[in-house]
Amino acid sequence: MTTGFTIWFTGLSGAGKSTIAHLLERELRDRGHRVEVLDGDVVRTHLSKGLGFSKEDRDTNIRRIGWVCEVLTRNDVVAIAAAISPYREIRDEVRAGVGRFVEVYVTAPIEVLAERDPKGLYRKALAGELPNFTGVSDPYEPPLAPEVVCHTDGQETPDQSAAKVLDRLEELGYSRRPVAEAAQAGRSA
Ligand code: ADX
Repeated sequence: MTTGFTIWFTGLSGAGKSTIAHLLERELRDRGHRVEVLDGDVVRTHLSKGLGFSKEDRDTNIRRIGWVCEVLTRNDVVAIAAAISPYREIRDEVRAGVGRFVEVYVTAPIEVLAERDPKGLYRKALAGELPNFTGVSDPYEPPLAPEVVCHTDGQETPDQSAAKVLDRLEELGYSRRPVAEAAQAGRSA
């Protein structure tokens, strides 16, 4: 039996997928897991270099990331994917291939994302200058039954979001809390 699993972050650009993914990466390494993060922005500079944002290209991008997650998972690695992955059907296809798959939906209202807009992409998209921009001029299909939902509009901090994912991993039996931490939690309970 593999000890690997995949944590799949989905959600709009700027929702906080990468931030939470990297917090989890650190915590899971501290717990002794071997961890790899596959971030859409980074994957698009090599494995998916040259792909654009048509449905076909996004599907190809997600299938590639999904395939790497599948290989890592069966080799006892924790794969963490952080890509918009807007289409439910393709995410479900990846879920079926990976098996041990934890889907995390990272969500905040579009007005909040447009307000933050660190890359200036929402401003362009809302001005009609960026076609096929997810959430504005291109579809996003939220998961129907994600294992975890993180609300990143200020309701929870990134650390709290990461803690929610860790709780779920413990419930699923995929990761255990370090003994010292568990003992401390027991004492303060
Ligand atoms: S996905 O749809 O194929 O999953 P991915 O997560 O790899 O997307 O890449 C999304 C990133 O590409 C965004 O965070 C943003 O920086 C950039 N980007 C550029 N153009 C677009 C667009 N039309 N739609 C969404 N993201 C875009």
